[in-house]
Amino acid sequence: MTLLNVERVSKSFAGVTVLREVSFDIQAGEVLALVGENGAGKSTVLSLITGLLTPDSGTIRYDGEPVRAWSPHRARAAGVASVHQELSLNPHQSVAENVFLGAWPSRYGLVRQGDLVARARPLLERVGLDVDPRTPAGRLPLGAQQLVELAKALTADPRLLILDEATSALDDDQVRAVFRVVDDLRERGRSVVIVSHRMGELLTVSDRLTVLKDGEVMATRRRDETDHDDLVRLMVGRELSDLFPAKAAPDSPQADPVLRAAGLSIPGACAGVDLELRPGRIIGLGGLQGQGQREVLRALFGLRHHSGQTEVDGRPRRLASPREAIRRGIAYVPEDRKTEGLHVVRSVRANLALPSLRVLAPARALTTVSRRRENELVEELIRRMQVKTASPAQEVRRLSGGNQQKVALAKWLPARPRVLLLAEPTRGIDVGTKREIYHLLRELADEGMAVLVTSGDTMELVGLCDEVLVMYEGAVVERLAGAELTEERLVHASVVGHSTAEETSRA
Ligand SMILES: Nc1ncnc2c1ncn2[C@@H]1O[C@H](COP(=O)(O)OP(=O)(O)OP(=O)(O)O)[C@@H](O)[C@H]1O
Ligand SMILES: [Mg+2]
Repeated sequence: MTLLNVERVSKSFAGVTVLREVSFDIQAGEVLALVGENGAGKSTVLSLITGLLTPDSGTIRYDGEPVRAWSPHRARAAGVASVHQELSLNPHQSVAENVFLGAWPSRYGLVRQGDLVARARPLLERVGLDVDPRTPAGRLPLGAQQLVELAKALTADPRLLILDEATSALDDDQVRAVFRVVDDLRERGRSVVIVSHRMGELLTVSDRLTVLKDGEVMATRRRDETDHDDLVRLMVGRELSDLFPAKAAPDSPQADPVLRAAGLSIPGACAGVDLELRPGRIIGLGGLQGQGQREVLRALFGLRHHSGQTEVDGRPRRLASPREAIRRGIAYVPEDRKTEGLHVVRSVRANLALPSLRVLAPARALTTVSRRRENELVEELIRRMQVKTASPAQEVRRLSGGNQQKVALAKWLPARPRVLLLAEPTRGIDVGTKREIYHLLRELADEGMAVLVTSGDTMELVGLCDEVLVMYEGAVVERLAGAELTEERLVHASVVGHSTAEETSRA
């Protein structure tokens, strides 16, 4: 039985066509994946299904009937639930309150906290989340917040669940929990539409995959008649080779560290972390989600109060504020671009030009940035990062998720930082652009930059980094480089919390 039919649907924004005669269908009890590059139109299609947007032409049929006066409210009432790329939780309310937002169990209109907490527990368990339902949602790491969103979507027992990059902030264990939920929905005849840039995951969980490119459907394939390379070819329109660039020669003489930390500690987050960042090297911070990786980056950028020693160019330097960090040549691209990395209501141009104002301005006339110089710079960054935007004047929040991420990274480049700290640099980014970013980071390293990245993607850490430090409960438990840097060793240390060598010596 067909649950949903999207028939020749088109959509434009301000004269720019974003979807062109898009057609696909979803059966009851089916999991359909939508894949495509950043800006291909995936989220836009989903907004049409959830009633957030209305198509310019074409028809959407739900349960055999063309939807009329469709709206988020009607879609929800008809059993459509969704988890988005962007989180919608209220950070100050408890997990339980967030899960039942709008559907609180009440008696005589009063919210009963005890009920709420008791009813939240099984839902949280279902999504594999082991947290106290009374915790304020804002205190949870990003991945856990995404799972709370999922629990919230499940409260109404949806007929169609939409997951738009809902797994992007999750570690492998959490992704498996989500896929158990998906499998369970399928078994009960429910349908799921899933969008993700992690193709491996999609090839495991979905029944069929529809590929979008520049707003058009390129193909719909059954899972057993396609593979990774086939999908990438359809998405990108060409073969994609050498995803990862060559690494720094392992035996090349190493430059002195530009940034060194010894015994870096933050109560409750990390303890005794030693690391050295050298020009020309890309260092990774791996481990399961939330083992202190993010806190280390934030400390080095002066965002977290920390103890221990930090040295820049061999001299002790306090990194007590982002201002000081930036003055020492340290740049930071955070994982939560919406709240930390970007001014989303400002234009692409303003975001790209901000950190460079000092560079652009003649020494003593900070206020007279040449408009022409700024425009050149912005155009150049948009080209280099292949940011898909109608114009530099477009507001950042109107960009697709992956294109926002590109802006968050691009804005630092003209300032030529000496140390680049990146949290999850390719989250939500399509495979073609991932390749660009990997090659760009290596280029920057070759030009003398020291790079530190955190990533939940083991393949990325192994493929990109010269050395990976594995964190477990706030401590570095393993350092892998050269032939030892394999996905297997990395996953092992992440899960058990100590190195393979240690294990052998214990046995
Ligand atoms: N409200 C809007 N106003 C103007 N342009 C928009 C709006 N919403 C989306 N777009 C444009 O439509 C195109 C498709 O965006 P969409 O968010 O659907 O991409 P996507 O496939 O989800 O990409 P990503 O993988 O990066 O999330 C983009 O070029 C985007 O800038
Ligand atoms: Mg999107």
